[in-house]
Amino acid sequence: HHYVAIMAGGIGSRFWPISRSKYPKQFLDVLNVGESLLQSTFKRFAHFIPVENIFIVTFEDYADLVKEQIPDALEANILREPSRKNTAPCVAYIASKLHQRDPDATLIVAPSDHLILDTVAFIDTCRQAFDYVDRFVSLLTLGIRPTYPNTGYGYIQYDQTPYEGNVYPVITFTEKPQLEFAKTFIASGDFLWNAGIFVWKVRDVLTAIEKYLPEMYEVFHAEEEYFNTPKEQEALERIYPQCVNISIDYGIMEKADNVAIIPSEFGWSDLGTWNSAYENMDKDYLGNAVKGDNVVIIDATKNVVQASNNKLVVLQGLDEFVVVDTNDVLLICKKEKEQEIKDYMTEIKRNK
Ligand code: GDD
Ligand code: MG
Repeated sequence: HHYVAIMAGGIGSRFWPISRSKYPKQFLDVLNVGESLLQSTFKRFAHFIPVENIFIVTFEDYADLVKEQIPDALEANILREPSRKNTAPCVAYIASKLHQRDPDATLIVAPSDHLILDTVAFIDTCRQAFDYVDRFVSLLTLGIRPTYPNTGYGYIQYDQTPYEGNVYPVITFTEKPQLEFAKTFIASGDFLWNAGIFVWKVRDVLTAIEKYLPEMYEVFHAEEEYFNTPKEQEALERIYPQCVNISIDYGIMEKADNVAIIPSEFGWSDLGTWNSAYENMDKDYLGNAVKGDNVVIIDATKNVVQASNNKLVVLQGLDEFVVVDTNDVLLICKKEKEQEIKDYMTEIKRNK
């Protein structure tokens, strides 16, 4: 009864201009390791979940890319969303589909674009999580000890007395807080970052969706009979336009009162932004992380530089910037303002 759904439909907009809507970063070899983030993610799960129980949920435009990159995935397990509605509809879809075929299914929902260094520890944590949610009605998430006040993550306050073993009760869940709050949370020592990897019985997450996103629940529920039939895709075409665009974090996790957390240590990093990539790249003695052969750095520190064409890129006197040169875009942005890249993109699109 154990399943995995890898969410691979996002745009990775904070990783622009390397991550583009036609080719988002989960399909890229961001860390230069010879495989894309999605490929690493699939492999990691294939170590302990049979491939017929691994699903990849993606935006329909990326389905071919997924097929090409993951030849081991069953064709029927590559699920195509007709539009991009963020992660709550994605979870509602896979949970409804699995529930219809296996009401006792237990599911890991995972992002497709993270770095996890210690696979053995990761698998061990997932096993503990499965074991817990198999026995209790609980929405479980994996927590990471925070290192700095990154405002792009969920912050989870947890009770220091465990339910059992390494599973702790969650007191509050705050998605993407303001910087001042993030600082306070970190200083208090009671908070973990949400890794965005969730484990639950499909039955229990559907109950939560029914409670906190009742309209969305109804829309999926009404079309339930078509899941796992040749009419599934047509049903999705009716369902998706009716769904609000909301993440599972805002839609469910902030509100639910049965959330549990496993504080985890498996060398996790969200490669969601230039800063997090910077943290995981090799740096020169002045703290510059450089990808690309034609980059010259003079009197500059702590920059992340990526030059992906043949142009010579020279930096002088620049500190703590993101400099990314692609064929059609040059980005120069303060490293601390990286969360805003998402907003510029919306602005840029509007003005074009
Ligand atoms: N199928 C599908 N459909 N996948 C999607 C969609 C969608 O509409 N939108 C996003 N995804 C995928 C992304 O590709 C990514 O793998 C994953 O879902 C999470 O989405 P992000 O957009 O990257 O979320 P986030 O990084 O802002 O925040 C989440 O992750 C953080 C940790 O990395 C939250 O769960 C935070 O609480 C968490 O701290
Ligand atoms: Mg992310």
